[in-house]
Amino acid sequence: MSLASPAPVAPSIDPAALRLSVAPMMDWTDSHCRVFHRLLAPHARLYSEMVHANAVIHGDRERLLGMDPVEHPVALQLGGSEPALLAQAARIGADWGYDEINLNCGCPSDRVQAGRFGACLMREPGLVADSVAAMVAASATAARPVPVTVKCRLGVDDDHDYDRFRAFVDTVAEAGCGIFIVHARNAWLQGLSPKENREVPPLRYDWAYRLKRERPDLQVVVNGGIADAEEATAHLAHADGAMLGRAAYHTPYLLHRLDVAWFGGQLQPRAELLRAMRPYVEAQLARGVFLKHISRHLLGLFANERGGRAFRQVLSEGAHKPGAGWALVEEAIAITESFAQPAVQDA
Ligand SMILES: Cc1cc2nc3c(=O)[nH]c(=O)nc-3n(C[C@H](O)[C@H](O)[C@H](O)COP(=O)(O)O)c2cc1C
Repeated sequence: MSLASPAPVAPSIDPAALRLSVAPMMDWTDSHCRVFHRLLAPHARLYSEMVHANAVIHGDRERLLGMDPVEHPVALQLGGSEPALLAQAARIGADWGYDEINLNCGCPSDRVQAGRFGACLMREPGLVADSVAAMVAASATAARPVPVTVKCRLGVDDDHDYDRFRAFVDTVAEAGCGIFIVHARNAWLQGLSPKENREVPPLRYDWAYRLKRERPDLQVVVNGGIADAEEATAHLAHADGAMLGRAAYHTPYLLHRLDVAWFGGQLQPRAELLRAMRPYVEAQLARGVFLKHISRHLLGLFANERGGRAFRQVLSEGAHKPGAGWALVEEAIAITESFAQPAVQDA
């Protein structure tokens, strides 16, 4: 019998807690945004913006990692490719109270490529495995060990080889990662902007489904291009969860619909959900936060509803003015409510 202690394995995540999640999005999924999404979707798993491991170690942690207790469960997404630094950052994130540490293997921006992390890591499964092993070991020493997960693409550039994708996953899984969020398209590292890289390379959900079929012990969450409740629900027949990015941000009521449909409860009207933000908003204003930093995340709440454009306009124009406070939000809600008044009498 070997006396060497077995390599630590990261804790797993309860399947129900993986079903619905909101993607990590730079400049979008900050703490204010996550508090809003939490009110809409009590069962969703939320992800931070990507933070580079170096920034976690050397930067202003309160600014980079600060969160509100209502956000849980919330994951910290790390960028980086140096196992020792990622391990240190993972431990800091676990100690800070994050419920999961996620490694970004999917971001295609030039800045990220220059730093040799993000999507180009799809070509370096050994390095990702070393990083994951170090992160799992570091997280295991935290007071509360947390799962280490990976968000990846199917490949980069012209890799259209399912076996290569699965080999990447197998190598990383062996290092202790049991949960993969698959943005189900390639990243093209040359010639496409990050935005185009979320739209142009074709989606291949079937690869994520096949991975789940062939590796049933892994938890596989599908991401990419999920636009509505029907599409999101369809993924649950083939994978452990659906992660929504842009649709969740631009039409956040969708999160509420999905939460109620998948976990039960009563649909709440948009205005009521928004009014639940009031104590948070007022506490933030009292701390010197400007309304515009919170209200920008709320603009899509009434998307596709009568009064939705006016709601957006009132909030986006007014929130920049000095002294803007909760009264402005009420003003915007009132507009939508005036549209919702029943017609006096159909002619
Ligand atoms: C504004 C924006 C910022 C993003 N930032 C990140 C990021 O920091 N880390 C990451 O893994 N993906 C990032 N993504 C990609 C999303 O997490 C997601 O994989 C992608 O948008 C596809 O999902 P969707 O079609 O549901 O939006 C970002 C996407 C957007 C729109």
